[in-house]
Amino acid sequence: MPVIELRGIKREYRMEAKQGARIKGSKNAVSGKNADSSRNAVVVRALRGIDFSARKGEFVSVMGPSGSGKSTLMNILGCLDKPSAGTYTLDGIETSKSDSDTFAYIRNRKIGFVFQSFNLLARTTALENVELPLFYRRREKQSSMEAAEKRQSAQERKERAAKALGDVGLRERMDHFPSQLSGGQQQRVAIARAMVNDPAFILADEPTGNLDSGMTLEIMGLFQELNRQGKTIIMVTHEPELAAYTRRIITLRDGELVSDQLVKETRSAMDDLAQWKNEHSLLAEGDA
Ligand SMILES: Nc1ncnc2c1ncn2[C@@H]1O[C@H](COP(=O)(O)OP(=O)(O)OP(=O)(O)O)[C@@H](O)[C@H]1O
Ligand SMILES: [Mg+2]
Repeated sequence: MPVIELRGIKREYRMEAKQGARIKGSKNAVSGKNADSSRNAVVVRALRGIDFSARKGEFVSVMGPSGSGKSTLMNILGCLDKPSAGTYTLDGIETSKSDSDTFAYIRNRKIGFVFQSFNLLARTTALENVELPLFYRRREKQSSMEAAEKRQSAQERKERAAKALGDVGLRERMDHFPSQLSGGQQQRVAIARAMVNDPAFILADEPTGNLDSGMTLEIMGLFQELNRQGKTIIMVTHEPELAAYTRRIITLRDGELVSDQLVKETRSAMDDLAQWKNEHSLLAEGDA
C-alpha cells in the first residue's frame, strides 16, 4: 500500500476581477462571465489532474519552473489545503473526505514539515522546540483516534525529543537556543521536530535554501541517512544538483506532472561533503 496516493488532483483558484481590469497573463488562467455581469470570474488552474503515488521509504524531489504548481501540490500533500477535485489517500486515510478535526489530526500526526526558514521558536531551547509537536498531540480534542493513544508524561516527552535530537547528531546541543546554533544545526533541530511524532512522511520545502554549500551537503547527507533508515521524504527543490541526492524526481509544468524518473545513480552527499571539506582545508592552508 502506498504512503501517498494522489488521483486526478486538480486545484483551481477562483478569483473575481472587475470587468475591464486586466488579468495578468498566466498561461493557465481561464476567464469567463460570471452571473454578475459587472465582474469577470477568473479561474487559475494551478493543478490540472495530478496522479502520483509514493511508497514507504522513497526519497522524491519535486521540481518544475516557477508557477508550475509545486507549492500548490505541497500544500495539498501537507494537508494545508484541499484539492478542487481528485482524491488524496495518505497512509490509507482518504483525506479529502475527512472533517476539519480529522484533517488537522492527519496534518499534525502524519506529516513532518521542514521549511527553508527553519521556523524554530527563538526563546525556546532545541529540546523544547522538538517537544512541541508532542504537546499539540496532547491538546488534540478527544477523538476516537486519540482515545486509542496513550497520554504521554512529561518525562516520556523529554526522552522522545532527546532521542530525536540524538538521531540528528545534536544530543550535546539540547539546551541551546536557536541563536546559539549554526544554520545547519537549526535545520537539524527542525528535522528532529519533524520526526518526533514518527510521521508517515517528511515534507521538505527548499530545506537548504538558507544554507551554505557545506551545511547543504550535511543536511542532504542527514536526509539520505534517514531515508536509509526507512523514512519517506518528499522535497521541493529548484536545484538539479540537490535532486541528484534523491532517488526519484517528478517534474511539474503548467500544473501537470510531465516527468517521473528514477535517479540512475544517486550521489552520496557525505562523499561530496568529504571532498568539499578537503578542498576547503586545502584552500585554508593555501591562505596561511
Ligand atoms: N492563492 C492563489 N490564488 C490564485 N492563484 C494562485 C494562488 N496560489 C498560486 N496561484 C497560481 O497557481 C499557479 C501555481 O502556483 P504555485 O505557487 O504552486 O507555483 P510554484 O511552482 O510553487 O512556483 P515558485 O517556484 O515560484 O514557488 C501560478 O499560476 C500561481 O499564480
Ligand atoms: Mg512555490
